[in-house]
Amino acid sequence: MNIAILSRNAALYSTRSLVNAAYRRNHNVRVIDHMNCDLVIDSGDMAVYYQGERLEGIDAIIPRIGATATGHGAAVIRQFKAQGIYSTLDPDALLLSRDKLSCLQALSANGVSIPRSVISKNYYTMPSMIDEVGDMPIVIKMIKGTHGLGVILSESKKNAESILEAFYKAKEKVMLQEFIHEAKGADVRVFIVNDEIVGVMKRQAKEGEFRSNLHRGASSTIIKLTDEEEQIARKAARVMGLKIAGVDMLQTSEGPLILEVNASPGLEGIETTTKVDISGKIIDMVQRSA
Ligand SMILES: Nc1ncnc2c1ncn2[C@@H]1O[C@H](COP(=O)(O)OP(=O)(O)O)[C@@H](O)[C@H]1O
Ligand SMILES: [Mg+2]
Repeated sequence: MNIAILSRNAALYSTRSLVNAAYRRNHNVRVIDHMNCDLVIDSGDMAVYYQGERLEGIDAIIPRIGATATGHGAAVIRQFKAQGIYSTLDPDALLLSRDKLSCLQALSANGVSIPRSVISKNYYTMPSMIDEVGDMPIVIKMIKGTHGLGVILSESKKNAESILEAFYKAKEKVMLQEFIHEAKGADVRVFIVNDEIVGVMKRQAKEGEFRSNLHRGASSTIIKLTDEEEQIARKAARVMGLKIAGVDMLQTSEGPLILEVNASPGLEGIETTTKVDISGKIIDMVQRSA
């Protein structure tokens, strides 16, 4: 098969891992930078040009779209899909997952438990909406943040008000969220490929930090999920319409709470922690489906 991996950087671990898995299965594979893709849309004709070349003969694409490329990335995927080319990522699912608010709305509407979350865009109602979230501390999150950047723990109502004022002034969209103490600075990343759980790791934030992102220096270990946790993680990926998903959950005595569902989850942490060839599982899915 001719497989294209959409990635801005061929040297990234995740990209290399997918390329190697495809080679090992005797596929032709090339890395295409989606930000350098030009799109031609005409009546009955939709083409993708890459560095002046009209791309033809591609059987499947595996998009790895970073947070700064979401809009154009989704447009490029849509253009490939319109030509009947199989994609491991649906453009609408990508857009949904990149917006923490829409993601939580979709999860809650489908019966997936999440931490209590509040959106307030109004200076006058803000103090009462901070009370709505629950006891201090609370978490304040940028709607489009990633890697733990833009996730803040606010210890007092006064402090929360000033942080919100600053974000409003900067025209940055944020949400407020109940802080889950029970998580103790840890979360669980569940990697799902085609409705199957292929890797699970617990990430523990470093000393003095509550964000358990590996990019923020957290450490990871393998763990086994309960049946309930497995079912909820798979449901979260399905609700989001993601064939490849990194589901982040917090474990509590009342069951798991889903924080977010990532559409281009990194492979390095999960493959090195679990020793599972997750790229291989992705290529196998492409082989079966394209
Ligand atoms: N409501 C919360 N309660 C406790 N910890 C949280 C909460 N929200 C986020 N965290 C911690 O912060 C990390 C980053 O938050 P997340 O919503 O996943 O944003 P990002 O997209 O930046 O990873 C999580 O992995 C978790 O460890
Ligand atoms: Mg996260």
